[in-house]
Amino acid sequence: MEKFVIVGEKTLSGKVKVSGAKNSALKLMAASILSEGRVTIKNIPGIDDVMTMIEVLKHLGAKVSFDLDQKVLQIDPTFISSYEAPYELVRKMRASILVAGPLLAKFGHVKVAIPGGCNIGSRQIDIHLKGFESLGAESVIEHGYIYLKSARKGPKPSGKEGRYLQGTVINFDFPSRGATENIMMAATLAEGKTVINNAAREPEIVDLANFLISMGAKIEGGGTDCITIHGVKNLKGTVYRVMPDSIEAGTFITAASLCGEKVEICDAIWSNLETFCLKLREIGIDIEDRSNKSIVVKAVSRPLKPTYISTLPYPGFPTDLQPIITVLLSIVPGVSIVTENVFENRFMHVEELNRMGANIKVDGHHAIIKGVEKLSGAPVRAFDLRAGAALVLAGLVAEGTTEVSDIYHIRRGYEDFEKKLQSLGACIRVE
Ligand code: UD1
Repeated sequence: MEKFVIVGEKTLSGKVKVSGAKNSALKLMAASILSEGRVTIKNIPGIDDVMTMIEVLKHLGAKVSFDLDQKVLQIDPTFISSYEAPYELVRKMRASILVAGPLLAKFGHVKVAIPGGCNIGSRQIDIHLKGFESLGAESVIEHGYIYLKSARKGPKPSGKEGRYLQGTVINFDFPSRGATENIMMAATLAEGKTVINNAAREPEIVDLANFLISMGAKIEGGGTDCITIHGVKNLKGTVYRVMPDSIEAGTFITAASLCGEKVEICDAIWSNLETFCLKLREIGIDIEDRSNKSIVVKAVSRPLKPTYISTLPYPGFPTDLQPIITVLLSIVPGVSIVTENVFENRFMHVEELNRMGANIKVDGHHAIIKGVEKLSGAPVRAFDLRAGAALVLAGLVAEGTTEVSDIYHIRRGYEDFEKKLQSLGACIRVE
């Protein structure tokens, strides 16, 4: 199995470009199912999760071609003949359940494997199901699968015979991103108006709404906590460019904060990352917005200050950057406290960081971090995608050599991670 070998304490400098956003690309790919014609999506990152979603779409019967060099994906959903997201694929990547909304909307029924737990928590799908049921779907759970069927039958809004969903008002108990996306997609072809209250507000939701609008959907309020969708008869093909990945940007910003001289992170959108960037400023990092197009991080000579961080749905501090900023806080003098509110089990990286000399205690959903002077290189294991990236950053700043194993987690979400770090001067190789 592949691992990263990192020789730490090299100074990073130069420019690095962020790829297309994983957490948008996967949703746009799922939403393509809704189209009556071919969809072209640009700026698709070459990551393993995208490859898994391609497998899901092909399994359903869609024709898919991916030009990895040009980062252009073409999806022709006209041949879809299966309505099942199988366990092997959903287990590999939870986001596979995002095909449920589009399949239900277009064909009136879907069979999707229950995702089950993952390394960062149990991750329920009750909010998705309640939403589908409110739209008039009947659900049956059997043998590890959820079967959903639109209750209404007859001439659909498009005029064709079949099963269809009925628009309604849905109040989410929690602003789940996945549920917001699934219900928003399902509602595009429902009869009448759907309102989602307490919707997730992430920029990726706006990207998905804009993508659907470019296909002919009628959606208002994307990016606010109240999204209104007016059902249309059908959706057409489109050409669309995925937004840049804020979490990848945040990862490189943190790498630069740890060991950068002057690093420019291009395609990093400040407004999408403001809470995170302002927190870094508060700690004492010299970070600058370049017109919402790139972010520059410069080395600072003054001592950094400890802080409190509490993860929350957007626009709060992003949970995906929690493991990553924890690495920085582990070498900031004083005591910092990180509270994880979104996932129940997102401190798996802490034991590994402690093996590298960090002093972090986990108490429930809080991590109490006593800054140490230095981390020291050690063999460590990536338990999930962001925890894995965090350990690579720890290796960059640590004294000596760090080996990060199980890097297949990192390959799920970072395109050319080691190459991009090498281009900034990091000493990292794959073995
Ligand atoms: C997405 C992101 C993930 C990010 C997370 C939170 C993708 C592919 N993944 O995941 O990187 O960390 O948002 O920003 O976009 N929940 C329920 N019931 C539900 C749905 C969710 O209890 O029906 C809970 C989950 O267990 C979790 C929390 O709500 O504790 C957040 O989940 P959600 O916002 O749905 O995250 P995802 O869309 O799965």
